[in-house]
Amino acid sequence: MSGTSADGVTACAVRVAGSYTQTKMTFMGSKTYQYPKELRIEIFELFDNQTATVDSVCSMNFKLGREFAKAAISLADSLSLTLDKVDLIGSHGQTIYHDPRPPEGDNSSLQIGELAVIAELTGVNTIGDFRKRDIAAGGEGAPLSPYVDFILFRSKRGIAIQNIGGIANLTYMPPACSEEEVIAFDTGPGNMIVDKLVSIYTESELAYDPDGSIALKGKVDEGLLDELISEPFFSIPPPKSTGREMFGTRFVERLLHFVELRGLDKEDVIATATMLTAETIARAYEEFILKEGPLDIIYLAGGGANNRAMVKWLGRRMPGIPLERFDVLGIPSEAREAAYIAILANEFVMGHAANMLTATGAKRKVILGTFVPKW
Ligand SMILES: Nc1ncnc2c1ncn2[C@@H]1O[C@H](COP(=O)(O)OP(=O)(O)O)[C@@H](O)[C@H]1O
Ligand SMILES: [Mg+2]
Repeated sequence: MSGTSADGVTACAVRVAGSYTQTKMTFMGSKTYQYPKELRIEIFELFDNQTATVDSVCSMNFKLGREFAKAAISLADSLSLTLDKVDLIGSHGQTIYHDPRPPEGDNSSLQIGELAVIAELTGVNTIGDFRKRDIAAGGEGAPLSPYVDFILFRSKRGIAIQNIGGIANLTYMPPACSEEEVIAFDTGPGNMIVDKLVSIYTESELAYDPDGSIALKGKVDEGLLDELISEPFFSIPPPKSTGREMFGTRFVERLLHFVELRGLDKEDVIATATMLTAETIARAYEEFILKEGPLDIIYLAGGGANNRAMVKWLGRRMPGIPLERFDVLGIPSEAREAAYIAILANEFVMGHAANMLTATGAKRKVILGTFVPKW
């Protein structure tokens, strides 16, 4: 898995038995292989239609296929797992463009990291491209994780899993819910805006705010926060998904323009962008979740769970609802999405339609994935 942060490839090994609500998963190990700095810059160029060129997309698809294969091989090696014992690789790939709600209604999304290269270099059956069939069936192709949240973690209590990656997204499962009762959507930016600001302010010295330490030194600017929250995405009712197209470079340019006019301090700007994530997550629960059913606990996943400012401010905004790290459920929070991709690959071979209609908005349940055999 490589998420919208494009921080690196997270590889995860799991043992899976059964399928759908009978799935039993055992976590074996995971590791994130950071992209070299130059490669990360090249990937970011593909997110921007001013700098992405068709030859660079073409070659990066193969280059990332090699990176994903290398990550799988290296993880297997570190777990003393020989590749001929691995039944299946599931690869999400790197999203370079996600356009779920274009005005013409032609939804699209592109993940790269060539599956044929992964199968060839590892000698393992490989499944990827999990989003496309859902989009073909009228959905947004995202989010995919709620289906796995449901099959693994539905409970007698009302629980939510809040992921804070580049983008933040939530899955809410009412007590003893059915698949149709799950509510899941992207709440907006997770770390994406903070990451970008930190990288601008430190001239790429830092890629993120370590443990939220910069934000904790700053003070939230209410004027800037109000300006950012006026973005219409936040008040659209779910299902909805978003990406870098909305909260990437152009959003940050607008933010910096405002910052310049007001002469704000760097630490205050980072504090405000951090608060934007906490505030928009809290509002998403208030507006779209709490009236739907009881919420007993929120599990926090994704790299943002390590940002102490973000977690503290979210906790302050939602008193009375315990926040716990997702790790307590048996998968390290950083590995959640990678482990989930393995589960989706298993659902493909077991013949289960793994798109959750309430989350993606697709017209029908479809089998997600494209298969490349090992030979
Ligand atoms: N120790 C940390 N302190 C603050 N933020 C962190 C820390 N570790 C990771 N992050 C944040 O998490 C992001 C990566 O999270 P991840 O869940 O992999 O997101 P994605 O799915 O978008 O790749 C990093 O870009 C960074 O913003
Ligand atoms: Mg990541």
